[in-house]
Amino acid sequence: MSNLPNENSPSKANPFSSPLLVNRLLTEGSGKETRHFEFCLKDSGMEYLPGDSLGVLPTNCSEVVAGLLNAVGLTGEEQVEAGDRSMSLSDALSGYFACTVLSKMQIKKFNQIAQSDQLGKLLEVANKEALMEFMWGRELIDLFLEFPQSGMDAETFISFLRPMAPRLYSIASSLSAHPDEVHLTVAVVRYEGNGRKRKGVCSSYLAERVGESIPCYLHPNKNFKLPEDGNLPIIMVGPGTGIAPFRAFIEERKINGASGRNWLFFGDRSQSTDYLYGEELDAYKRDGVLNELDLAWSRDQEEKIYVQNKMMEKKADLWSWLQDGAIFYVCGDAHRMAKDVDQALKRIVAEEGSMSEEDALAWVKGMQRERRYLKDVY
Ligand SMILES: Cc1cc2nc3c(=O)[nH]c(=O)nc-3n(C[C@H](O)[C@H](O)[C@H](O)COP(=O)(O)OP(=O)(O)OC[C@H]3O[C@@H](n4cnc5c(N)ncnc54)[C@H](O)[C@@H]3O)c2cc1C
Ligand SMILES: NC(=O)c1ccc[n+]([C@@H]2O[C@H](COP(=O)([O-])OP(=O)(O)OC[C@H]3O[C@@H](n4cnc5c(N)ncnc54)[C@H](OP(=O)(O)O)[C@@H]3O)[C@@H](O)[C@H]2O)c1
Repeated sequence: MSNLPNENSPSKANPFSSPLLVNRLLTEGSGKETRHFEFCLKDSGMEYLPGDSLGVLPTNCSEVVAGLLNAVGLTGEEQVEAGDRSMSLSDALSGYFACTVLSKMQIKKFNQIAQSDQLGKLLEVANKEALMEFMWGRELIDLFLEFPQSGMDAETFISFLRPMAPRLYSIASSLSAHPDEVHLTVAVVRYEGNGRKRKGVCSSYLAERVGESIPCYLHPNKNFKLPEDGNLPIIMVGPGTGIAPFRAFIEERKINGASGRNWLFFGDRSQSTDYLYGEELDAYKRDGVLNELDLAWSRDQEEKIYVQNKMMEKKADLWSWLQDGAIFYVCGDAHRMAKDVDQALKRIVAEEGSMSEEDALAWVKGMQRERRYLKDVY
């Protein structure tokens, strides 16, 4: 089955307006907000496979736009060029430009006008870390609040801006199990930075909507797919929103009657509040769709327990599955989790396969070459 988009498929430039049917909080009572979304794809011609992602084109929050205009000293009624169209600055800020997350280039351009010694110092190559620290928790508005510029015109202002980038989300449903639908699992970004409440553009855009049409398109990922041979065992490691593609994998393997064994490692903060799709996963385990389900709750006890700790506890079985040709999948946080899971995998291969560190590394590299170790990390 091919799911490659053709020239008429919805795309980043020509997205499909998909009605958002369901917006459900999965983490009642938790300190974090993770939501389940269901979109309608009827008449879109969009056909995806488990492992693909959905691109979403958000709109900037009207309060964020108003705050930024106020800080810059513009009304929003000024006419500007956005892409190949002329529109009001207000419309351009809400739908066309990115106007929160900062980049070094933006600060550089801003400082060509602001001429601040502080920013100039931060922009020096030797001060890369200090610049990162400055940028963490700050947004574009903070430049204008901390380094006020009087009389900036709209054209100069938009010269600092980049077009809004779509956000990708790993698809959490199997199309065969949910015809005409696509599901997502989204961690809503909310934090306090530099003394102000902030929110992620796209995750909060989705969190604050239901019933509306959302511009989206498919982003196929041929490097993160179920094996064609349904007899092969699979091992899935997906804490937090990393569960998303694995919900799709399990649904697909179930509906296709694939006989290969399925093993899921899932984890999050607390079992009582953060067990994403807990009822579904427990039912899959009860019914034998999931042969193994290992759960790591990081905040239910004093010491942290993560998915890689659970992998180590089951290292003999995990090695045996790998010997049986299992495909090893990882999805979720790229910065820490995926690196630590990679370390744990290498340790298991070394210990259970009685290999030197070097040989274990080569063995894992071999898995990657044979496309038996696949990652969807962000
Ligand atoms: C292939 C792929 C698949 C993905 N799948 C999923 C998925 O299934 N589910 C999911 O939830 N996400 C997923 N993501 C991530 C997703 O694309 C977005 O990056 C995420 O939702 C944040 O986007 P946003 O617009 O809400 O936040 P943005 O507006 O882009 O803001 C994020 C920025 O805010 C800042 N920030 C965030 N937290 C803090 C903090 N605590 N302190 C200071 N600054 C902070 C950082 O600068 C960060 O870069 C995936 C990404 C990729 C590339
Ligand atoms: N700013 C926000 O409000 C917010 C909220 C949610 C997610 N996010 C961001 O969104 C991304 C995805 O979030 P998510 O909900 O999918 O997952 P996540 O926040 O990365 O957490 C999922 C689980 O993974 C654990 N974890 C932390 N470090 C780990 C490591 N080194 N190895 C293995 N597990 C580890 C977490 O434990 P602990 O957290 O207890 O250490 C938690 O139990 C992350 O990059 C995260 O930073 C931001």
